[in-house]
Amino acid sequence: MKKYVCAALGACASIALMAHAAAAETKVGLLLPKSGNYAALGQEIDDGFVMALEEAGMADDFTLVREDSEAKPPVGVAKARKLVLQDEVDAMVGIVSSAVLGAVRDFVDGSKVPLIVANAGNDAATGASCSKYIVRVSFSNGQVNRPMGSWMAEQGIKKVYTLAPDYAAGHQMIDAFTESFTAAGGEIVGSEYTPFGKTQDFGPYLTTAKAASPDAIFVFYAGGEAISFVKQYDSFGIKKDIPLYGSGFLTSPLYVKAEGPAAIGVKTSLHYVPTLDTPENKAFVAAFKAKFDRPPSEYAVQGYDAARVLVEAVKAGANDRESIAEGLTKVSYTGPRGPLTIDPATNNVVQNIYIYETVADGDALTQKIIGTVPEVRDPANGCSLK
Ligand code: PHB
Repeated sequence: MKKYVCAALGACASIALMAHAAAAETKVGLLLPKSGNYAALGQEIDDGFVMALEEAGMADDFTLVREDSEAKPPVGVAKARKLVLQDEVDAMVGIVSSAVLGAVRDFVDGSKVPLIVANAGNDAATGASCSKYIVRVSFSNGQVNRPMGSWMAEQGIKKVYTLAPDYAAGHQMIDAFTESFTAAGGEIVGSEYTPFGKTQDFGPYLTTAKAASPDAIFVFYAGGEAISFVKQYDSFGIKKDIPLYGSGFLTSPLYVKAEGPAAIGVKTSLHYVPTLDTPENKAFVAAFKAKFDRPPSEYAVQGYDAARVLVEAVKAGANDRESIAEGLTKVSYTGPRGPLTIDPATNNVVQNIYIYETVADGDALTQKIIGTVPEVRDPANGCSLK
């Protein structure tokens, strides 16, 4: 067979070229937490990422190198350096924590390796510290929470107490909410930040919050902390008097089952909800359930879309760090979460924000969409990419 194909010298040469092209896979570093408070989030992003590569029939075109960031800034920086300098990846995907994203920003920008952010909402990464090499397909902390401030004020809520973990994401999410809520006439009657990843007992914070007599409490918690917080909010007896609101990670489908009935009635805002009634989302949910035997969460969609923008860029001809960075920003489609485009001014995703309530569905819990804010785009926030 080989002899036959290579009968002419020209044919031999083109076979060799084809073999080279097939071997020229895109090497991707997946930098995600696989331990700590955000471990489940990292795995879910990874699952969504792999699913999109398989769906595109391109799993063999990518070599994946996985590193555990532990959601700790110094570990994240060390692992990013290893992926770029030792493994020589063409692109990196991942980062869950805003603190890790802030810490790796200068290294990514300086080494000119495209980073597709698949979670971390750090506003500065697509604002004052934006980079041509950082493209975000997840959300920004401001983008998710700004719409909720206005929406809650419109519902007639006047006084709110806020709580969040004491690190970049907690502060930025509460700042964005506070800005739009107070601009719409609302009042923040108190605010507290809890030690990140270390707070097991929210009781003392809930006592202080209750004493401020707010109409509602608004929080950001995610992962293991979200489960503890939502359960304690209920068991502490405060839920029946003061309704709980937050950014939608609080009651993510990834762990709402662990929260149980305590999550019923909590109202939040997010860029993806698995109950979205669109053909694109229904197909995605069915495929994800068939593969993983559970409904997808926002983290799964972020991983899925990170792979999808990368696949589209590569299909359009991107084959090295520079052309991948360029290509990522040109991708746009309607996917599971609705329309998705990358803002050329900031490299942040432009997308709908949904307000949803966690409701009972027989013995299970589901998400009822009660509001949609279409195509939310962040202000440039000091970024001038275009
Ligand atoms: C963040 O640190 O930016 C962060 C972490 C977990 C989330 C959302 C944002 O669910």
